Amino acid sequence: MSEYAIEMLGITKTFPGIIANDNVNLVVKKNEVHAILGENGAGKSTLMSVLFGAYSPDSGKILINGKEVKITNPNVATDLGIGMVHQHFKLVHNYTVTENIVLGREPKNKFGILSLDEAEKKVRMLSEKYGLQVDPKAKIEDITVGQQQRVEILKTLYSDSDIIILDEPSAVLTPQEIDELMDIIRLLQKEGKTIVLITHKLKEIKAVANRCTILRRGKYIDCVDITPETSEQDLATMMVGRPVKFDIEKKPCTPGEKLLEIKSISVNDSVGVEKVHDLSLDVCAGEIVGIAGVDGNGQTELLYALSGLSPVTKGQIIMNGKDITNMKIRERNEAGLGHIPEDRHKHGLVGGLSVAENTVLKDFYTPKYSGKLGVLMTEKIFANSDKLIEEFDIRSGQGSITPAGALSGGNQQKVIVAREISLSPNVLLVAQPTRGLDVGAIEYIRKRLVAERDKGRAILLVSFELDEIMNLCDRIAAISKGSIVGVFKAGEKTASEIGLMMAGEKSKEASK
Ligand SMILES: Nc1ncnc2c1ncn2[C@@H]1O[C@H](COP(=O)(O)OP(=O)(O)O)[C@@H](O)[C@H]1O
Ligand SMILES: [Mg+2]
Repeated sequence: MSEYAIEMLGITKTFPGIIANDNVNLVVKKNEVHAILGENGAGKSTLMSVLFGAYSPDSGKILINGKEVKITNPNVATDLGIGMVHQHFKLVHNYTVTENIVLGREPKNKFGILSLDEAEKKVRMLSEKYGLQVDPKAKIEDITVGQQQRVEILKTLYSDSDIIILDEPSAVLTPQEIDELMDIIRLLQKEGKTIVLITHKLKEIKAVANRCTILRRGKYIDCVDITPETSEQDLATMMVGRPVKFDIEKKPCTPGEKLLEIKSISVNDSVGVEKVHDLSLDVCAGEIVGIAGVDGNGQTELLYALSGLSPVTKGQIIMNGKDITNMKIRERNEAGLGHIPEDRHKHGLVGGLSVAENTVLKDFYTPKYSGKLGVLMTEKIFANSDKLIEEFDIRSGQGSITPAGALSGGNQQKVIVAREISLSPNVLLVAQPTRGLDVGAIEYIRKRLVAERDKGRAILLVSFELDEIMNLCDRIAAISKGSIVGVFKAGEKTASEIGLMMAGEKSKEASK
């Protein structure tokens, strides 16, 4: 019997214009939690897709439990006991939890009719055994993202996988859900599973991993043991290739005039439930104001109302002294509003369009890029995009012509940030700017936001990461149940004091 569950040796995989994996090794011992650390675009997902049979490598070999195998498609991987939870879930939204779990291996009774009772029992049993609480009968569209992830994990357990690959599982979770996920990973290990955890969060690696393989720009850098002595700084340096600063350097702020005035607004969500209640807040030129709160306390609806994605039911929004409450999105943009949205794929980018086209989504129709007959001036669009790629260090295989959807998450975010900042907005709305990004990209994006502040922009930042709010903002507004429950200068309150202000909602969330 081999000591190793997985041996991937000399794996190379190229895409047009890019070597995603360049002679990479990954050796995972049985029953360990093995982290794969790397910046966005380092090749982590590609390596796992090779292991899962979604891509075939150009060269290299794979051994599972000591035996060389050819994983030609995901069914072969499943038969070898490999399960994968993808970065973007692959669930059918109007199916139930159980229906999704049995998808592709539907249990039939002796008359050949679909019978879900047995399956439901097994799902219930597995969910209890591994602490993966979720209702087997609930529809996917009705459960939270965190619960959807549990469904994906249950799916791998249902097909008896011994090796479970988790691709950036914490990227979509709240801090509380991340803690629960760490517990789930520990339980999976205790029950004998081998876990491959892809992440760029050093804290998570320190919390659960036994060993860690580091990739950088497609290349294998090292494989190290994780001990209590392992320093996060060393891991970050290996990942990025240079020392990384965790703290943000910024000068004290010198706020100017009020550029954004939110006056007693209320906002409903898409089904008509009031999510923002009588909320008032100002943001001045040259300051970053952060909204600290637990996910689901009205942050999304607030930004929808400010950016024009949803109407307010009451109140007023004033920008630059101008009432924008009832303006269309395009009018707001033209009046000087920028928006780095929470949902990058839905509101930030058009995946099928090129990077170049995405950089001019908001001003392609202006004389800057549109000729007399409305013909787009492609050369100018590409020149603009080439400049932004350079300035914002956007890594894309084929430069400006790469479809935005083919970029890694961090690089997609950089395209959005580049577009919004390059339009020189007076007021910049920023939601979860670094969610799911690696430390290199996080450092960069935070630096750019501070630079925009210093240029006199008014920045309103929503983030579920209290660390980010506390580090980046000049003033902080705590939000609970759709209302601001306190506004104070950064540094005036400790994390636990702010946490308490945010917490009122937590108990209500739980009872909902
Ligand atoms: N299907 C694809 N077609 C073209 N390029 C791709 C494809 N998948 C990934 N890439 C490129 O390969 C590199 C590695 O990507 P990926 O494995 O997703 O990185 P990671 O998961 O570490 O963020 C990136 O530069 C990415 O743009
Ligand atoms: Mg990835």
